[in-house]
Amino acid sequence: MHTDIIQYYKDRAEEYEKVYLKEERQEGIAQITRYLQEWFLGKSLIEVACGTGFWTERIAQTATHIYGFDINPAVLDIARSKTYASPVAFEVLSYEDLPKAPFGYDALYGGFIWSHIPREKLPAFVDSCLRKVPESGMLVFTDNTWVAGNSTPIYHTDQHGNTYQRRTLENGEDYLVLKNYFSREELEAFWKNRIQKIEYIELDYFWLLKLT
Ligand SMILES: C[S@@+](CC[C@H](N)C(=O)[O-])C[C@H]1O[C@@H](n2cnc3c(N)ncnc32)[C@H](O)[C@@H]1O
Repeated sequence: MHTDIIQYYKDRAEEYEKVYLKEERQEGIAQITRYLQEWFLGKSLIEVACGTGFWTERIAQTATHIYGFDINPAVLDIARSKTYASPVAFEVLSYEDLPKAPFGYDALYGGFIWSHIPREKLPAFVDSCLRKVPESGMLVFTDNTWVAGNSTPIYHTDQHGNTYQRRTLENGEDYLVLKNYFSREELEAFWKNRIQKIEYIELDYFWLLKLT
């Protein structure tokens, strides 16, 4: 079984957006879209792990400009093939190299990457995200809530409490994918005393965190 998450998203690039077609998640996806378009209205932002540009496309309808990065050139090829309502620049970069991303943006967004970051690496990730936005800036993260009977079962838990799912792609290969789930309290604890205001919104299949 493959264990490299970067390889997993490389191999999944062409089929990735099928996840956004799940019937029961349409209402939540529409709600997230409305929140993101309202929150990023008139703002410039860095988009961490932007993938195929699914959210970039939606945010670009109200944001001024976006710098999106991802570690996988394969997903960025798809993102680059789309048209956007405002200027968008894409670059290959790891979130571990976030300090190398440009400065000068009002805000930062991370869609569905928080759950893939090893728990022990989250404090450093929080630090580097905070350094990228000005004092008056905003950070937004969205990700999945655990939904019993709907979420892919947990296959393995490591010594840091990271949970892993066994996922099969259309190429027939199996992958062990790190995917963590968090309570509201756990999420807020990462940001407490680091930021003035924490807003947490829970939807049926998703959570949103707005930090200002
Ligand atoms: C669940 S997808 C989210 C994509 C997009 N943000 C979205 O919500 O549709 C996770 C993304 O994280 C990227 N990724 C994984 N490890 C990364 C890393 N170390 N640095 C940057 N991107 C990474 C993958 O290539 C993939 O595109």
